[in-house]
Amino acid sequence: MSAPLSVLITLSVVLLCLGEKPVEDVIKPRKATLLGGWFESRPDSKEAQDAIQYSIKMYNSHSKSKRLFRLDSITAVQSQVTNVINFKINAILGKTKCSKAENHDLEHCELEKKRMDCQFVVAFNHSNKKHEMKSRKCTKLVKPKA
Ligand SMILES: *[C@@H]1O[C@H](CO)[C@@H](O)[C@H](O)[C@H]1NC(C)=O
Repeated sequence: MSAPLSVLITLSVVLLCLGEKPVEDVIKPRKATLLGGWFESRPDSKEAQDAIQYSIKMYNSHSKSKRLFRLDSITAVQSQVTNVINFKINAILGKTKCSKAENHDLEHCELEKKRMDCQFVVAFNHSNKKHEMKSRKCTKLVKPKA
């Protein structure tokens, strides 16, 4: 490799790195005041999906029902960055026909009528890649009669 080329490559790598982290953004007071706040988050991101799957697993392991519940829909996901990432997940879970006693592929379990309106707060620790359920609040969703 000729010297000018390697210099060019090094330079573009440096520029790429700078491009990923806009330095001036970090020191803007606007950012500082928002630190620790809750933000709308994309439910389809890998981090949100992991937190959602964890929440459903925890819901099922704690519920008294003999049937498994699975995700019906997500109403909102918010995240908050502290020393961990907190996810506040608003989701509708649906009761399925699959029994807890068997090992089912939850995605393929047929839904019954019952729905639970849930809010989960899950913390994700980046250091050990572990989730922790901070709070779990579910109420039976009563559909208005048509
Ligand atoms: C995150 O995990 C690390 C490594 O296990 C641990 O030392 C740290 O206390 C954890 N942080 C929180 C906020 O739980």
